[in-house]
Amino acid sequence: MTTSFRVFATCDIGDAINILRDRGYQVEIYPGPEAPPKSLIVEKVKSGIDGLITTLRDPIDGEVFAAGRGTLKVVAQIAVGFDNIHRGEANKYKVPFTHTADVLTEATAEFAFFLLGALARKLWSAEHLTRENHWGYWHPYLPFLGDEVTGKTIAVIGTGRIGLAMIKKCTGFDMNILCYDPAYENRDYIKAIQEEKDLRYQRGISRERTWIEYTTFVDALKRADFVSVHVPLLREGESLTPTYHLFNETTLRQMKPTAMMVNTSRGPVVDEAALARALRENWIAGAALDVYEQEPLPANSPLRDPAIADRCRLLPHFASAARITRLSEDPEKGMAGRCVQGLRDVLEQNYGGDITQMPYVVNKEAFVK
Ligand code: GLV
Repeated sequence: MTTSFRVFATCDIGDAINILRDRGYQVEIYPGPEAPPKSLIVEKVKSGIDGLITTLRDPIDGEVFAAGRGTLKVVAQIAVGFDNIHRGEANKYKVPFTHTADVLTEATAEFAFFLLGALARKLWSAEHLTRENHWGYWHPYLPFLGDEVTGKTIAVIGTGRIGLAMIKKCTGFDMNILCYDPAYENRDYIKAIQEEKDLRYQRGISRERTWIEYTTFVDALKRADFVSVHVPLLREGESLTPTYHLFNETTLRQMKPTAMMVNTSRGPVVDEAALARALRENWIAGAALDVYEQEPLPANSPLRDPAIADRCRLLPHFASAARITRLSEDPEKGMAGRCVQGLRDVLEQNYGGDITQMPYVVNKEAFVK
């Protein structure tokens, strides 16, 4: 089957795009590495394209959907998160949008775990010491020590796909795990993890018996040595359990002064001004961030304060940035492949054209008959 669909991609997604071209699609790719101006997206949509490939940098709101009235058939986002796409407006204009869940779950969770390790063991400061030739001696505790993660207690905030994968990584390091999810508790998974933990202990793989449990948000914050955030960004009005500024002055003050947090979810889940203060005033001991309220991180962000540099790791929204995860053309392995498949499912009317059956469509509710 060849088609003559027209698609605009707001960035290059690698060779997976050739799957579309080989099928006769006319694909135009915005050439810059930066996001295109919104006005250009609107102009392309207005020109009558059938499909729009987007990244998390593109605001896809009512203006975009209105511009595509009667012509735009699908928005295919290359990301699991879709807070940049206005779900209500997509539903109003009956445009399905797809995302690339699952294929980046393990990559994101392992990255969160690596950030946790880098933060706890002070890898950044230790490498600076070596590179700047300040490594003058081996000493039992000078110039500084880090903290082990093994045997410690971590709070996993958000037990969706990535939170559950993080729990798996933490189980391998014999951590105790406090789970909190504002919307849904996966008690079967937690039970299976406890069984795994018990087996590790019984068979002498782990020295101590470790545990996992669901608890409240405040209890998790109060008891955890480490906190890792895995919730979607939901603003007021978008959910009964919004996550915008879930971490703020009040909640950061509930953490232990020795605790450290990792955020690989979405920046606005954390009030950055409050976090910078928490680090400066030692309410908590450290933070590692991959996501920010504004991306790229502005030059004047309080998180860049040199006074907290040893306690604050800053990464460039990099958690899914692994070669296969990002670019594999196989929809079971790569975000690019899954993005293309999601777009094709809608335009080529796979699943008998029933959008509610299409696995990568997010807003199925708008298409229930
Ligand atoms: C990355 O942040 C994603 O949502 O895929």
